[in-house]
Amino acid sequence: MNIVFITGNANKVREASSLMAPLGITVEQRDLGYPELQADTLEEVARHGIAWCMEKLKKPCFLEDAGLFVEALNGFPGPYSKYVFETIGNEGVVRLLDGAVDRRAVFRSVIAYHDGVQAHIFTGEVPGEISYAPRGDEGFGYDPVFIPDGHARTFAEMGTEKKNQLSHRGKSLNKLINYFKEHT
Ligand code: IMP
Repeated sequence: MNIVFITGNANKVREASSLMAPLGITVEQRDLGYPELQADTLEEVARHGIAWCMEKLKKPCFLEDAGLFVEALNGFPGPYSKYVFETIGNEGVVRLLDGAVDRRAVFRSVIAYHDGVQAHIFTGEVPGEISYAPRGDEGFGYDPVFIPDGHARTFAEMGTEKKNQLSHRGKSLNKLINYFKEHT
């Protein structure tokens, strides 16, 4: 089976392939540069994006929108995670929590899969904490500052396989995989 993953992010494709390739699912990356609606929820962004992609591609495909929600910042940056990463980066997020004892955060992932008839949404989340400084050089984005609950290492100090076992995206991808198993 072949499935198109609409994304410009090769790291996300690597994570999806790591879970899907062993099951005989080939992930094909297409970077359509779909418009990311600035909305209040990841689900709205994903639903809007997949409708746009389906118009363009006219075949089954999926995309994924993720966000980091920091408790002490009332859920910020959440749906603004991309903009915040590009402006203040990991050092900036650590600075925003300077002196904070409550460092809890949740990483959320929303996959929108369009089967040609309708869109399906699959979500995943992982609770954790923001580290006191960026650590590790694997992965991408906020991986160096996110420590999943019950672990001492940041995502950037784990390999793809370990991150997938714990991560928001690992969870949403596994739900998509289960959907494929049930419907193909
Ligand atoms: P998007 O899903 O590409 O819009 O991601 C929003 C922001 O979160 C971007 O800056 C990404 O680099 C970052 N991001 C998304 N997924 C992850 C992840 O699994 N680990 C760390 N950062 C991520």
